[in-house]
Amino acid sequence: MMKSRISIRKFENVTIPDRDIEDIIEIGTKAPSAGNCQPWRVVIVKDAATREKLAEAAWGQGFVARAPVILAVCAVPAESKEKYSERGETLYVLQDTAALATSLLLGAHFKGYGACWVGAFDEETVTSILNVPAEMRPVALIPIGIPDGSVTKKRKRRPLSEIMVRECFAK
Ligand SMILES: Cc1cc2nc3c(=O)[nH]c(=O)nc-3n(C[C@H](O)[C@H](O)[C@H](O)COP(=O)(O)O)c2cc1C
Repeated sequence: MMKSRISIRKFENVTIPDRDIEDIIEIGTKAPSAGNCQPWRVVIVKDAATREKLAEAAWGQGFVARAPVILAVCAVPAESKEKYSERGETLYVLQDTAALATSLLLGAHFKGYGACWVGAFDEETVTSILNVPAEMRPVALIPIGIPDGSVTKKRKRRPLSEIMVRECFAK
């Protein structure tokens, strides 16, 4: 099931029931986080005008607005700093929110929806559009919707033989 996940950038013009959005976010929160800090918040954006603004902030990636829902993943560095000082603030918080974003993608796929991780956006503009508090950082936008039936293309991956390192790297 999880082997078939791909980024979806074409959506049907159909809304997503709130209970499915909630389910996807709940699956997202099963992601691990350092010390179980869960230094994240998820903004649920359904309003069409706001979606348009976010697509513009994402350097004109129009498909972002064409999804009925965008989840904006926000990191809360101070919550990681409290427990893990600089390593928490600069590393764990980003790893934790990346794990959340991945779980959201898998959750969407599991529920039969398509989604895409969008990281290319102007952070200041997104912060202002969503009124994100100063102590948080928007780190990913995840447009979600019913995949347009025509998207089936498999994505290339490095062969396992290149990735799998037995015991240690050769000297
Ligand atoms: C950190 C990060 C940022 C990304 N930013 C974008 C983006 O701005 N726009 C986009 O269309 N895809 C974006 N992607 C999705 C990747 O392009 C995609 O995951 C990759 O090409 C592999 O394809 P697949 O997800 O279908 O397997 C991003 C993925 C990651 C992890």
